[in-house]
Amino acid sequence: MIELKQLSKQYGKGGSLTTALSNVDLSIDKGEIFGIIGHSGAGKSTLIRCINLLERPTSGEVWIQGKNLTRLGKQQLQTERRKIGMIFQHFNLLSSATVYDNIAFPLRLIKTPRAEVERKVSDLLALVGLEEHRDKYPAQLSGGQKQRVGIARALASDPEVLLCDEATSALDPQTTDSILRLLLDINKKFHLTIVLITHEMHVIQSICDRVAVIHQGGIVEHGPVTEVFLKPQHEVTREFIRQERDSGGLLGLSTTNQGDESAQAVQITFLGQKTYESILSRTVHETGVNFAILQGTISTIKETPYGQLIVRFEGNEAAIELTIRKLLDQGLDVEVLY
Ligand SMILES: Nc1ncnc2c1ncn2[C@@H]1O[C@H](COP(=O)(O)OP(=O)(O)OP(=O)(O)O)[C@@H](O)[C@H]1O
Ligand SMILES: [Mg+2]
Repeated sequence: MIELKQLSKQYGKGGSLTTALSNVDLSIDKGEIFGIIGHSGAGKSTLIRCINLLERPTSGEVWIQGKNLTRLGKQQLQTERRKIGMIFQHFNLLSSATVYDNIAFPLRLIKTPRAEVERKVSDLLALVGLEEHRDKYPAQLSGGQKQRVGIARALASDPEVLLCDEATSALDPQTTDSILRLLLDINKKFHLTIVLITHEMHVIQSICDRVAVIHQGGIVEHGPVTEVFLKPQHEVTREFIRQERDSGGLLGLSTTNQGDESAQAVQITFLGQKTYESILSRTVHETGVNFAILQGTISTIKETPYGQLIVRFEGNEAAIELTIRKLLDQGLDVEVLY
């Protein structure tokens, strides 16, 4: 669907050259929600703006549905761009136009007949839940409502791709969730490919299928969210996940052994249906090992449940080893912490 090949972007000239992207290769499938996460200045906005050529890459190619956008003439590019909608952190609405006129804007640009505009805008207003606000101006709306207008406007030209540049960063957590849910609905309903960039792991975890981590202009890690989130390889990824988790802290994580028994702290990860099974208690029952829970989370990655427990096993060494082996055999992921 979207193919970025050896994409590089430099800003400025001569002595004051900034490399914002270097040799990015990325492939995004039709119908998926693809997240790109990175710190400030990592190159996220540059990357997403290169996808519709709002920013011209210095070198490399952008392919969308078999067309190399970097090779198209002005007219052809304009036609292709209509298939790519975009929403922004600060909404970028026309402040002197009503909600209705903001959404109608891209349709009028391509001289859509009046009745067709009316029908389409009404449908979009219903889709984003703003029917009652059609005659209001942006200044009379909340942040979440403004973003709904942004989404409706982006969908007006029936795009195949929706690019979201920090679309929820200016919103409170509750509003963020409602906008993410709307994006997920739209993705399912229209089989729309969504590319979103963010600096929040939570956003990725809520709705993305796959994720790429960008750092200093390069992709350092990418894959299905479940994989990247539960088995992060790169330090930057680990840091994002730690930030998300750290609210809990590692309760009582200490290395003191009790009596002459040995102890071992492990992180156990359950994914999918296994999250709800009593695998751990059955296993320790068999091996005669005791455990203390040091930290635990149960959550979902998109719609897949997962659980992560940090426990300290107490018992003799061989029994603990057997416990870990049995857990691995039953398809859990076990990482020994100390
Ligand atoms: N128009 C520009 N001219 C010069 N340098 C730029 C321009 N836009 C971005 N840069 C530089 O390119 C690098 C990447 O910027 P970019 O805006 O893509 O990062 P970002 O990941 O979107 O950051 P943020 O999370 O703060 O929005 C930064 O070093 C930035 O200073
Ligand atoms: Mg940015």
